[in-house]
Amino acid sequence: MAQLPILVAPDPRLKLKAKPVDGVDDALRRLMDDMLETMYVAPGIGLAAPQVGVSRRVLVIDIAKEGEPKAPLCMANPELVSVSDDDAVYEEGCLSVPEHYAEVVRPARVTVRFLDRDGITRELDADGLLATVVQHEMDHLDGILFIDHLSNLKRNMILRKLSKSRKAATDPAL
Ligand code: NI
Repeated sequence: MAQLPILVAPDPRLKLKAKPVDGVDDALRRLMDDMLETMYVAPGIGLAAPQVGVSRRVLVIDIAKEGEPKAPLCMANPELVSVSDDDAVYEEGCLSVPEHYAEVVRPARVTVRFLDRDGITRELDADGLLATVVQHEMDHLDGILFIDHLSNLKRNMILRKLSKSRKAATDPAL
């Protein structure tokens, strides 16, 4: 397995709509495994392929808490088959929007259909944190970041700060 570099907003590659995969083969399994390793090291609880520069509809999630056994979920071509009428609010963050957090309102429960790591079609009923993470990662496949759910004012403030800190990181130290 290998760690992959994570793109940071406002990288334009994060805004692309990702293409479906044709199926799950060894190359895709390797990508899923590399994404899991990258996510665990970061550390994060979800990662979508566009965040590592791969414009494919693939994501990985593990919401197991520290000290609990790992519970990796790999999804290719995920689709929401149902969403609840009631909403939930979570404070979200994102490995591509480092050090910024904000409350986002989303449906409280979703059912998602996807291909798993073995290429088998599965359906998962998610609620609580998992429902939020599934929707957050699926948004990445359509080029949507959690900051796109915020007001223009708040989003632009965060993007400005990210651009500034990235510039600072690449400027030669004086
Ligand atoms: Ni994210």
